[in-house]
Amino acid sequence: MIDLDSYPRRRYTKDPTPLHALPRFSEALGGPTVHIKRDDLLGLAGGGNKTRKLEFVVAEALAEGCDTLITCGATQSNHCRLTASAAALEGVRCRLALEQRAPNIYDAEASGNNLLYRALDVERFEICDDGSDMDEVMHRMAAEARDEGRRPHVIPLGAGSPRGVLGYIECLREILAQARVQDVRFDAIVTAAGGTGGTQAGLLVGLLDSGDATPVIGINSGADRATEERRVFDLARRTIEFSHLSATLDVQQVECLDAYVGDGYAQPTAAMIEAVQRLARTEGVLLDPVYSGKAMAGLIDLVRQGRFRRDRHVLFLHTGGVPALYHYAAPFLSKETT
Ligand SMILES: Cc1ncc(COP(=O)(O)O)c(C=O)c1O
Repeated sequence: MIDLDSYPRRRYTKDPTPLHALPRFSEALGGPTVHIKRDDLLGLAGGGNKTRKLEFVVAEALAEGCDTLITCGATQSNHCRLTASAAALEGVRCRLALEQRAPNIYDAEASGNNLLYRALDVERFEICDDGSDMDEVMHRMAAEARDEGRRPHVIPLGAGSPRGVLGYIECLREILAQARVQDVRFDAIVTAAGGTGGTQAGLLVGLLDSGDATPVIGINSGADRATEERRVFDLARRTIEFSHLSATLDVQQVECLDAYVGDGYAQPTAAMIEAVQRLARTEGVLLDPVYSGKAMAGLIDLVRQGRFRRDRHVLFLHTGGVPALYHYAAPFLSKETT
């Protein structure tokens, strides 16, 4: 088994995140019993999946004596918010490169994650056009920081390195332990996929490591199916190598569905709005509009298509992102959707 304790790690969440059934939501859907893993309740400001990855990635940065974390993301990036939060907690500085994934969408006064970057005292922003080479931008920012006498460390997009993926091997172990205690066997795990594919890659490598064949269904936030499946597979393969696991992942095990993306990354869809409202109104749990809302829209549609029998158990991994709701508010306030 992969020895996760052999890697430097910071701890940003005290206990395993809750895993529980959603009885009112499942009843309303009329399908299998849907359970939820609440990674939206992970530690650092606002929670979400990057917290698990940053435990390993920031530990490496600190071991190198870093005093400035540099990372990148979209203008409303959960990963950037959580990196800024980790920097605050560790007493180091944070600089961000933000990619505008549509022309001129950056708004320095926007709410959501942008507001939180400022509350967390991000020291510097580089605003980039869609399609910029973000690795190149971050390495230039690191060179500038070194010229100022800083010791910077560049964290890749979404902490989506094999080291970061270790966080989701850990999450998978938590899920299996909680399933044992609750005496439930999941027929599938459904998660948002996008950004880096690291969450899904970590779950798949964790399953391989544990000898468990539960299928994982990724629901894309922007990319097409082939691109996302390749990204998840490549990152899983690199993680297997990095963690010295002597097993191979079959490419057939990587499933990323792109039918719920709509017009593109962060573009609202009617199914996403329905999913966010349905979970909020049956269970009092919030989803985000960019990742977990579209992922839940996918799960709802798979249930309607009859993919899971009524006596089955499906686990939805809530990857967080809820602060972005405050930025993408308009579709939830329009008369047609309320
Ligand atoms: C809330 C949320 N869910 C899911 C994802 C996708 O995670 P990954 O990069 O591990 O595929 C992200 C990534 O940005 C995210 O912020």
